[in-house]
Amino acid sequence: MYNLLKGKRGIIFGALDEKSMAWRIAERVVEEGAKVTLSNTAMAIRFGKVKELGEKLDAEVIAADATNLEDLENVFRKSMDVLGGKIDFVLHSIGMSLNIRKNRPYTDVDHDFYMKTLDISAISFHKMLQVAYKLDAINEGGSVVAISYIAAQRIFDKYNDMADAKALLESIARSWGYYYGKHRKVRVNTVSQSPTPTTAGQGIEGFDLFFEYSEKMSPLGNADSNDLADYVVTLFSDLTRKVTMQNLYHDGGFSSMGMSEELMKFILEKK
Ligand SMILES: NC(=O)c1ccc[n+]([C@@H]2O[C@H](COP(=O)([O-])OP(=O)(O)OC[C@H]3O[C@@H](n4cnc5c(N)ncnc54)[C@H](O)[C@@H]3O)[C@@H](O)[C@H]2O)c1
Repeated sequence: MYNLLKGKRGIIFGALDEKSMAWRIAERVVEEGAKVTLSNTAMAIRFGKVKELGEKLDAEVIAADATNLEDLENVFRKSMDVLGGKIDFVLHSIGMSLNIRKNRPYTDVDHDFYMKTLDISAISFHKMLQVAYKLDAINEGGSVVAISYIAAQRIFDKYNDMADAKALLESIARSWGYYYGKHRKVRVNTVSQSPTPTTAGQGIEGFDLFFEYSEKMSPLGNADSNDLADYVVTLFSDLTRKVTMQNLYHDGGFSSMGMSEELMKFILEKK
């Protein structure tokens, strides 16, 4: 505990259950002295455990579909109201693909589902920032982070249309980082995280193998939710006030690798 976020107010989108990355990040930012509100869809609040987290952290839970501008406006207004002022940090930890859920391969996606994937997993980030910008809801020097994956840059079989959503998400972070940076010195970044066993992560076909491959390729091993929460705390803190418009790899070194001894051994053993 370093009190890095003492007195700061934040909004955490995307905690569903204790496996969610947003769950651990919410716990960690509160440990560091921040006050937060939590948001998720009405359905996720009903069927998930976010209310439990709200009670634990003494945090208001506000229902919102992140693709709906009115819902998002309500989250920002209500959060400023209950937290007692403008917001210092926002976490976007939201993703969903109906094509993945319904086993539609990339070569035969349903394009209505595809539009939904982009809207929920990427354009919602644009909507969130536009709502905040118009309401002037984020304090000068504030920090906004969304969670991404390296499939935005490289092909990972079975990641499907989520790869396109992540590429768009990272681009939106860059664009808003420019506009919001000039306007209010607000930082906007994406963190590209290792595969992590969560509801969304485990929805990807072959996740376990994916996870093991990545573990063997990364000199530091996969980063887990605890590691991610620590990293995001630094990005919400004042110690990173000049870091913006970046896609920051938080992956134990995976993104710089080509082949590792561990993976070679693994393949040889399987032969
Ligand atoms: N798990 C991984 O391996 C991994 C790796 C890199 C990046 N990510 C990304 O991390 C983020 C968080 O996912 P997670 O792995 O913690 O899984 P998760 O399933 O716990 O979180 C996804 C969240 O998105 C929410 N959501 C879905 N549709 C929504 C909507 N319309 N409005 C508001 N919220 C909505 C869900 O309710 C859920 O809380 C996602 O963007 C995911 O793509 C995950």
